[in-house]
Amino acid sequence: MDTIKAIMTRRSIRRFKDRPVEEKKIETLLQAAMQAPSARNSQPWHFIVITEGRLLSAIPEFHPNAKMLLQAPAAIMICGDIRIEESIEYINTDCSAATQNLLLAAHSLGLGAVWLGIYPREKRVEEIRKLLGIPRTITPIALVALGYAAEDKEPEERFQPKRVHRNRWASQ
Ligand SMILES: Cc1cc2nc3c(=O)[nH]c(=O)nc-3n(C[C@H](O)[C@H](O)[C@H](O)COP(=O)(O)O)c2cc1C
Repeated sequence: MDTIKAIMTRRSIRRFKDRPVEEKKIETLLQAAMQAPSARNSQPWHFIVITEGRLLSAIPEFHPNAKMLLQAPAAIMICGDIRIEESIEYINTDCSAATQNLLLAAHSLGLGAVWLGIYPREKRVEEIRKLLGIPRTITPIALVALGYAAEDKEPEERFQPKRVHRNRWASQ
C-alpha cells in the first residue's frame, strides 16, 4: 500500500478475529517502529510483544479503555529508556513516532490495530510495570492492540482548511 493511502485510510480497530498474527508480520512491525525519527537519533525505545492471553486480559482490569484486549491475539508495548534519553518529554515524542509507524505498518500489512494510551497516566504506568516486570529506568509509553480486523471502518475526512496558517498567524 502506498504511504499516503495508508495514512488516509488507517482507523482504530477494536474488534479482532480469533486468528494469531504471524511472527513474520510482528517482525516487520518492529522494524517499521524502529525506523522512526528520534531526537538526536537516540532511538530510546524497547518493545514488549505480548501474546499470552493471561497478560492481555489482565490489562482491562486497570485500563478503562482497553476491553478489546480480551479479544486481541497480540499487543505491543512501546517503552522508553531513561538511560538512553534523559528527557521524558523526548522519550514520549520519540516513542509516539515509533507507535505511529507501527500503526501504519500494521494497516499496510492488512492488520487492524489501536493505540492505547499508557504514559502519562501514573496508575497505568505502574500497573503495566508490575504486570510485565518492567524496571524503573524504563517507562511504558503506549500499547498497541493488534490482530486481524473483525470490523470495517470507513476513512474519515478530517482536513480543516481553517487550521492552516501561511507565513503568519492570521485569524480567518
Ligand atoms: C495518545 C493516544 C491514546 C489513545 N488511547 C486510547 C485508548 O486508551 N483506548 C482506545 O480505544 N483508543 C485510544 N486511542 C485511539 C483514539 O481514540 C483514536 O485514534 C481516535 O478516536 C481517532 O480515531 P482513528 O484512530 O480511527 O482515526 C488513543 C489514541 C492516542 C493518539
